[in-house]
Amino acid sequence: MKHNTDYILQKAISSHNLHEEEILYLLKAKDTKKLTSFADMVRKKYVGNEVHLRALIEFSNYCKQNCLYCGLQRTNVKLERYRIKEQDIVNLAKQAKDFGYKTVVLQSGEDDYYNVNKMTYIISEIKKLDIAITLSIGEKTFDEYKAYKEAGADRYLLRIETTDEVLYNKLDPDMSLKNRMICLGNIKKLGFEVGSGIMVGLPGQTFESIAKDIVYLKSIPVDMAGIGPFIYNPDTFLQFKSIHQYDNFDLSLKVMAILRLIMPDINIPATTAMETLNHNGRLIALQSGANVVMPNATEAIYRKKYEIYPGKICLNDSPGHCRACIENKINSIGRFVSKSKGFHNPYVTI
Ligand code: SAM
Ligand code: FES
Repeated sequence: MKHNTDYILQKAISSHNLHEEEILYLLKAKDTKKLTSFADMVRKKYVGNEVHLRALIEFSNYCKQNCLYCGLQRTNVKLERYRIKEQDIVNLAKQAKDFGYKTVVLQSGEDDYYNVNKMTYIISEIKKLDIAITLSIGEKTFDEYKAYKEAGADRYLLRIETTDEVLYNKLDPDMSLKNRMICLGNIKKLGFEVGSGIMVGLPGQTFESIAKDIVYLKSIPVDMAGIGPFIYNPDTFLQFKSIHQYDNFDLSLKVMAILRLIMPDINIPATTAMETLNHNGRLIALQSGANVVMPNATEAIYRKKYEIYPGKICLNDSPGHCRACIENKINSIGRFVSKSKGFHNPYVTI
């Protein structure tokens, strides 16, 4: 196995296949810029200069789970909880459509208040608006996923978070990596576009486990890969800070860039967490392989309470402000907002 950045990058752009050891080598290599500029080149060739916007509606911060790193964990008593009424969620989606969004992402903690009846009502009402719907509401049964698909949901986002089972068990008590993988399998089987991804820089996470995560995401294969740096939240029960000596922002860029190299036509968001760590984080991500942004379309009164981690951006802004702001930013780097729903279009060579 040749371990040399130039060799591996050349191999990546010609075959879009890398061995786990080659991925590991790129993760550990010092030169992030070379990697991200190759990813940017591949992004341009396969998915072009358009950027897909997904309007993020954070409709409930109740969660029955207790993920150690996450501010929505059920034992976080400092968090003031809220639920947005079904009709108000539909109204936020209508507003998002009026702002020109072609997709809404409905995200919440794992909140059983929104049972199948409520969720299918919300989905079918939003579907009438002729926009695409992504769900990001956690682990459900096969039958629940099926009901959501039949009601009109198009995509499902469920990050695997980490494929390191020991780390997973430590960070996600009462949950199992196996069940998360089964959920992703069911989502795929039901014909959703599958979004998954990981957090980068989790305490105890290694380069080796991140390389395995990347291989796993390709094996699904995902239609969308969301990569976010882990951001320490002092209100959680995670009693230790990241033991990483590395910069979670830089490492997240590398992970995103490698995913673009080996899955050249998928959708990759420039995540909000990237912008939390760097005020130009989303633009840098868009120039390092990403082609999607998920601006917040929730009203400001709720945004402050959806505090997964501290320092989240745009907390006082309105949905209209975020929509205009992001388009200006995208245009400033010579890119443009797509007019399509932005489904994953496998690239075909003629
Ligand atoms: N309940 C849904 C689920 O589990 O998929 C969606 C909500 S959850 C808050 C969305 C994502 O936030 C998680 O998949 C996780 O990757 C991310 N997240 C949670 N805590 C974080 C932290 N401290 N820093 C960065 N990202 C975090
Ligand atoms: Fe449930 Fe994070 S612990 S959304």
